[in-house]
Amino acid sequence: MKKKIGVLTGGGDTSALNATLKGIALKAEELGFELIGFMEGWRGVLKGGRYFTLTPDLIDENRGGTLLKSSRTNLIKDNKLDEAVDNLKKLDISGLIPIGGDDTLTVGTALSDQFTTTFVTKTIDNDVGVNPPEGDAVDYSKMVNYFCPGFPSSANSVINYVRDLRTTTYSHDRVIVVEAMGRDAGWLTLSAAYGQADLIVVPEIPYQPDRLAEAIREKHTEQGNVIVVVSEGIRNDDGELMITSEAELDAFGHTKPGGCSEIIVEAMKKRLPDISESAFRALILGYLQRCGSPIPLDRDIAMKAGAMAVQALSDGMFNGVATITRTEVGIEPTLLPLEQVLKRDASGHVIRRSLDLRFYDAERYQMSPEGTGYFRPLFGDLPHPELSLGDRLSLGSRLIEIGEIG
Ligand code: F6P
Repeated sequence: MKKKIGVLTGGGDTSALNATLKGIALKAEELGFELIGFMEGWRGVLKGGRYFTLTPDLIDENRGGTLLKSSRTNLIKDNKLDEAVDNLKKLDISGLIPIGGDDTLTVGTALSDQFTTTFVTKTIDNDVGVNPPEGDAVDYSKMVNYFCPGFPSSANSVINYVRDLRTTTYSHDRVIVVEAMGRDAGWLTLSAAYGQADLIVVPEIPYQPDRLAEAIREKHTEQGNVIVVVSEGIRNDDGELMITSEAELDAFGHTKPGGCSEIIVEAMKKRLPDISESAFRALILGYLQRCGSPIPLDRDIAMKAGAMAVQALSDGMFNGVATITRTEVGIEPTLLPLEQVLKRDASGHVIRRSLDLRFYDAERYQMSPEGTGYFRPLFGDLPHPELSLGDRLSLGSRLIEIGEIG
């Protein structure tokens, strides 16, 4: 009888989850494992959970989302770790591969004390891993998990939406505040620099409305239209999330962010009375930045990471995480011990990876040269500043004014 291994996907979906599943299924087939897919994250291993045999032909690695569906079930909070272990044992599963972000991996870590487990990361927030060592020169090869699968595809969407938004912003002389996902981490928001965002506001730096208003005023005077991209997770002076609906907690106790762009628009209207109120708009990108097909680079490395996790289980290496490393020659999967990937604070809570502030120029609300160094393997060089100014002024810069109707 074939040895069985299991897989599940937890937390918010990404475009590259099916790619990881495909990599796992292909490797499992090659090594002679039967692969069992558990539906809806950790819910799938509990009483009533659904599971099925997963073969490579069932999985389309170019399709976003996850064939296995997902949930934010928290086995720790629900006191269900023992039940999960019992069920996995009853099904003769010899090893489990949870694919997830910090929450899924936190549950997986607790489970791994009693059950053979190897992990693969995913999250559009890019907050699982460790930043390069401190110092003036950034050594990107020393990052633990250069990026989380799913992040490059979402960043690519943010870039395209922000770039496309310019035509409307120009045509109607708008000041548009775009809200990007990422919870407490500014990675996705910062990627908007490649879409020529004028001002980028990340959650790692306290939000200062007066300073932001001043920066908007300057850009508006210069070009007549402004795109500001803000992180959904920015906080007010009291350190509270800026949300428009009633606070909602997810299964892991995190307050769900949402709506800060609308709050900022109102604050900016008050501070900038010289700009017509009707120029301001808020735009929440929402799930549009999490859906759709993966970009090839993301897809390919997600498949490799999945394959690596199966190989690790087969080689008897447990409690490892298939991470991504940037090397001189490219981007490769690397298996690391769990403790090296998930750092914890004194009370045992997982510390999410914030945006490395060397990558951000807080004075200019822009990406720094070190930030471009980070993103270059994904998206190349930043658009040239002068060319991009031309783009912002668009046709207007080439129109020859004949006169003014008296
Ligand atoms: O964790 C990924 C993420 O997309 C966050 O960026 C976002 O805040 C959250 O999930 C949204 O969660 P939900 O899918 O529950 O709306």
